[in-house]
Amino acid sequence: MYDHISEQSRRRILDKMEIMRQQQLNEAAQQIIEFAKTPVELKADLDRFIVGQERGKKTMATAIAFHYRRLGHALKTALAENSKDIEQALRQTRTPKANIVLIGPTGCGKTYTAEVASGLIGVPFVVEDMTKFSETGYVGQNTGDILIDLLVAAGGNPQVAQMGVVYLDEIDKIAGEAIAYRDVSGRGVQKGLLKLIEGVENTVDLGRERLSLSTRHVLFIAGGVFEKLDAIVQKRMDLHGFSGDWQDYLLTEDLVVFGMERQLMGRFPVRVTYDMLTTQNLMDILTQCEESPLQAYIHDFKTWGIELVFTAEALKAIALRSQQERTGARGLISILHRVLSEDLFRRPGSYTGLLQVDEGYVRRRLQ
Ligand SMILES: Nc1ncnc2c1ncn2[C@@H]1O[C@H](COP(=O)(O)OP(=O)(O)OP(=O)(O)O)[C@@H](O)[C@H]1O
Ligand SMILES: [Mg+2]
Repeated sequence: MYDHISEQSRRRILDKMEIMRQQQLNEAAQQIIEFAKTPVELKADLDRFIVGQERGKKTMATAIAFHYRRLGHALKTALAENSKDIEQALRQTRTPKANIVLIGPTGCGKTYTAEVASGLIGVPFVVEDMTKFSETGYVGQNTGDILIDLLVAAGGNPQVAQMGVVYLDEIDKIAGEAIAYRDVSGRGVQKGLLKLIEGVENTVDLGRERLSLSTRHVLFIAGGVFEKLDAIVQKRMDLHGFSGDWQDYLLTEDLVVFGMERQLMGRFPVRVTYDMLTTQNLMDILTQCEESPLQAYIHDFKTWGIELVFTAEALKAIALRSQQERTGARGLISILHRVLSEDLFRRPGSYTGLLQVDEGYVRRRLQ
């Protein structure tokens, strides 16, 4: 890429890139150092995006606010002690991490909460699909890959990358000898994950340069459906004569019976259960969420001079249909698209004014 430019220009570009990186580092580090949101404030921010899941949002907001507060405070102290070198400060900083496990049905906001929270704090966020790891069998081989993903999400800045959030998706699929799954390689993958979560130092070879990156300060959030985990907890509850909501009784023991390694689960002290979304939740997602798919369509139509309006009954019909599909809020997007696909095609340019969608309209489109 540099073949056709002068050495002088090349230097200038590289210098500029270095300045940009440094600026980004300062901004990200500054944001963490000055992180001052209380768990209540962070939860209020999450409320703008995530409907329902009160228990989930509360626990997540608390764990994340404390993690970054602690990291920020430790960084501030380290920086004050040794001449403003973030890399050194990061190395000296000890932050006992409270990694989080999210348990709940598909499409109910697990990954989304983690993503929104990372965005609100201003740290890089990556999703790693655990089923990929079980194919290769060795997480050790892929540790570097996770670090590279973080580095990319951090715009190439290694220090920022080391303060990010890694979401381990489908963690339940690497359970070994479990009731639900029989993945013999699962145990090996879980053992490999242990090291990563404790904090490994890894050298990433980028051709031109070699970077040393560590996961010591990375916050890990693992998510999964954990099908039939409720039955495992319920069985133990029955045995001891406990009654009530299984979610209040969940122990490491139950996750071990499910097939998770005790040592691994020990490193995820914060457990959160997410609920199946209700019809009302699904309707609220359509009408109230800041990133709602319906609001996006309303906005799109507006640019063509069309005012899209859904009646309450129409919204309910969409929510009910979405519930039947059992894909949580994910179903809303495809159903909305099915309802509107003809209008999306024909209306722009041929119609302006009110476009009202009622229950009958939804039913006809979804036949
Ligand atoms: N409670 C919610 N409030 C608002 N939007 C939601 C909610 N739950 C899900 N969504 C929407 O649905 C999409 C899918 O949700 P998400 O990725 O969080 O599912 P998940 O719980 O991680 O499911 P899976 O177990 O399949 O990974 C989100 O990107 C978001 O747009
Ligand atoms: Mg997910």
